[in-house]
Amino acid sequence: MKISIGCDHAGLEMKQAISSHLQKMGYEIIDCGAYSADSVDYPDIAREVTTAVLENKIPGILICGTGIGISIAANKVHGIRAALCTNEFMARMARQHNDANVLALGSRILARSYAVEIVDVFIKTAFEAGRHENRVDKIKQMEKTHERG
Ligand code: RB5
Repeated sequence: MKISIGCDHAGLEMKQAISSHLQKMGYEIIDCGAYSADSVDYPDIAREVTTAVLENKIPGILICGTGIGISIAANKVHGIRAALCTNEFMARMARQHNDANVLALGSRILARSYAVEIVDVFIKTAFEAGRHENRVDKIKQMEKTHERG
């Protein structure tokens, strides 16, 4: 199983901690940067990770200082449902109810060890479908009807 991951300069250490944890668990990491602490713009990273998510049909993880900017950017991409989660319950619901395909985290919000636990819940939880499928379908419909030329 592959997972795409990316961060801006604020999220570098958290990305490294999550990546090495996932590699130990046997996941193959598609690392979309940043690769140093030099300042980068989080939308550029969101574009790279979301492209990998859509092309490979795999989960993505995005990290910036708060998780806000990078989740906003990711959610501009058709087909992406990025969920900014600050705890395990949110991560579980993001998968079970929202079929989120990207987890966004704030490196200045969460302890690194807790972020790893949130990641574990996110990647191990399946979409429940059922009554939630119709709602996710309506989100997909909004991507089409709210398109601007
Ligand atoms: C970078 O300083 C910071 O603005 C960014 O990581 C993020 O928190 C934006 O939402």
